[in-house]
Amino acid sequence: MKYSSCLIALALYSTEIAAFPSHMFDLSMSEEEKRSIANIATTIEAEAKSRRAGTPLAPGFSASEQYVSTTGANAFVPPGPDDLRGPCPGLNAMANHAYIPHNGVATITEFIQGTYDVFGMGTDLATFLAVYGAVFDGDLTSWSIGGPPSSSLLSSIGLLGTPQGISGSHNKYEADVSPTRPDLYEYGNDYKVILPQFEEMYAQPLGPNGYDLTALTPFRASRFQQSIDNNPYFFNAPFSGVLVQPAAYTFIYRFMSNKSEEYPEGYLDGEVLKSFFAITGDPDSGFTWTEGNERIPDNWYKRAIGDEYTIPYFNLDLTAAAVQYPQFLDVGGNTGKTNTFTGVDIENLTGGVYNLQTLAQGNNAACFAFEFAQQAAPDLLKGLFSSITQPLSQLNDALGTVFSELSCPQLKSIDTSQFSNYPGATGAY
Ligand code: HEM
Ligand SMILES: *[C@@H]1O[C@H](CO)[C@@H](O)[C@H](O)[C@H]1NC(C)=O
Ligand SMILES: *[C@@H]1O[C@H](CO)[C@@H](O)[C@H](O)[C@H]1NC(C)=O
Repeated sequence: MKYSSCLIALALYSTEIAAFPSHMFDLSMSEEEKRSIANIATTIEAEAKSRRAGTPLAPGFSASEQYVSTTGANAFVPPGPDDLRGPCPGLNAMANHAYIPHNGVATITEFIQGTYDVFGMGTDLATFLAVYGAVFDGDLTSWSIGGPPSSSLLSSIGLLGTPQGISGSHNKYEADVSPTRPDLYEYGNDYKVILPQFEEMYAQPLGPNGYDLTALTPFRASRFQQSIDNNPYFFNAPFSGVLVQPAAYTFIYRFMSNKSEEYPEGYLDGEVLKSFFAITGDPDSGFTWTEGNERIPDNWYKRAIGDEYTIPYFNLDLTAAAVQYPQFLDVGGNTGKTNTFTGVDIENLTGGVYNLQTLAQGNNAACFAFEFAQQAAPDLLKGLFSSITQPLSQLNDALGTVFSELSCPQLKSIDTSQFSNYPGATGAY
């Protein structure tokens, strides 16, 4: 069974997972569709609850439900000169296989649908990520997975300039310490694969599930240290550093791994990893990166239905990594020279609500990142829209869902004055 139509409606039928405002979408669907969508919503919700309670359900495996087509309408077509591609291999691959428009500009609904169909991303997580993109990097309806889209693809709802897409969203979305992409201020771009970074990832000792989190989390720690060592403007920002940076690692295993009867949680081998990262070759003869050619492997299986990667699930991965490597939560950066990493005073930043010691506990890290994004939004949006009412209300609706899943201490204000010590902090607040 494939829920390929109107999955977005999940949002409307699930009270807890995605209380998304219905006025944003014009939906017409049969009663039967509504019922089947409500059923998946219930399953996802039960899954999320049990994960929160610390007893993950073992996912099953169904080849027919989890197979992802790479033929016919979904055959691989590399991007042409006018097609946009950027720092996210998952989205680039989706565009190359027409799970989102091949030109690389998609609507919120298309992102939610596409990430579910190809990877089994929870609608809660997908909704937040897609709305955040539309608000900060797009025109409130759609956004580009690469650089600025041509004006014919944009609606003009009081835009003050051309939206920059996720390639142009450093510190707002795009982060330092990416697995294969460079730090912006070290290399002058944030989306072209640095082969030695890919080589280092490829050379990690494999875990029980191949390139799983036991392989990728130490790799992230190594990359974090490289940014301290090599990027004078390294900045580990409250949202992009604490929340997006871990996603860039956990998504590799959670989404790219091939699910099977034997490995229902997935096994990620080197061939599948290379395919999703547009890499050919091998360590001996050398690797080649072909820009924009991220490819879904043939005969590859996504996450089980009902085992979607949701916000509570991601929160567990994010926190586990931070417990292992507390520096991941060290908001701050280099102060203009390499090896000058200085953390901000979190208590000061958050009016006493959080501190570095408690940040790794419970949901605090994710809560802090989401709440910071909410507090920073009005100022950031003033530079993007003539009126911030609509973008702010879209963002707050999406955040409402997030906060219904994570119970968070209430952050009332932020004091970002400390950020002026960091030349690489531009865009974070
Ligand atoms: C609407 C959903 C999504 C949004 C808004 C999004 C956005 C982004 C952004 C902004 C980055 C850059 C982060 C950085 O600087 O490190 C990124 C990186 C990344 N994304 Fe996505 N993404 C989405 C879905 C996915 C999916 C479904 C996958 C599945 C594999 C994925 C895998 C990755 C990976 C592995 C990276 C790190 C790439 C690297 O540096 O090597 N993303 N994404
Ligand atoms: C995924 O796993 C199945 C079952 O082991 C296997 O038949 C298939 O070839 C694998 N797909 C890829 C792309 O490795
Ligand atoms: C913290 O905030 C107070 C007042 O809001 C300020 O006087 C103090 O210098 C700040 N401390 C740091 C480390 O920035």
